[in-house]
Amino acid sequence: MSGVQIDVVTLFPQWFDWFRGQRHVANAEAAGHELRTMNPREHTPLSGGQVDDTPFGGGAGMVLRVDVMDQALRSYYGVDPVELQRERRVIALTPGGRMLDEALVGELAAEHALTLLCGRYEGFDERIVQHFCSDAVSIGRYVLAGGELAAMVVCDAVLRKLPGALGHPDSASEESFSPALGGDPEYPHYTRPAVHRGWKVPEVLLSGHHEEIRRWRRARSRERGAVGGGSPLS
Ligand SMILES: C[S@@+](CC[C@H](N)C(=O)[O-])C[C@H]1O[C@@H](n2cnc3c(N)ncnc32)[C@H](O)[C@@H]1O
Repeated sequence: MSGVQIDVVTLFPQWFDWFRGQRHVANAEAAGHELRTMNPREHTPLSGGQVDDTPFGGGAGMVLRVDVMDQALRSYYGVDPVELQRERRVIALTPGGRMLDEALVGELAAEHALTLLCGRYEGFDERIVQHFCSDAVSIGRYVLAGGELAAMVVCDAVLRKLPGALGHPDSASEESFSPALGGDPEYPHYTRPAVHRGWKVPEVLLSGHHEEIRRWRRARSRERGAVGGGSPLS
């Protein structure tokens, strides 16, 4: 199996030390997938490790410089960053980007290599997004302090789809938004005890009738999809 390589470009690579230690991430790496970090500060051509600057036109905060990202990507990959997006998906994490959903996760999991750019402060000089990135992705309509948590969300969702990441290969095949459930959220699960404080597990799940259980689960899944405003796959 040839693994997927995910590179995260971040000013805070140490955030990912914890993430790498998580079971499914460690499993994915053991199975031949790769999660690397690159710190643009280590490649900046500016003195004192400078990576950002004040915005033209005024306003608060600092903006990540295009010349720094150019140099960082060029020295890390050995190619002009404008060309890099032909070799791998280069994704700017930004609140206003394409919303991450199951379809996009599936698309990214099918790639052989991804680069995720984490912004900080006011975000990226727009020329970074325009010229170096194939995609701009958001994990939701809210603003985080930086792209690191967004990158972890993307990595987590992508890595668990890859062969070898999950303990049981079926775990990801029938779950919320999967084709197996017609794109609906997953049905409810129950385990022992069968009764707790008078709250009973639905009788059908204890019946041993596999076809009835399958039908019951599918119906609950559809109900949840209808309540949630429909399925993302429909
Ligand atoms: C404080 S935010 C910048 C917000 C930017 N000034 C704006 O108003 O859109 C700093 C960085 O965090 C990341 N970020 C924040 N919220 C995000 C979200 N919802 N999805 C993806 N990345 C996000 C981006 O990389 C962004 O460049």
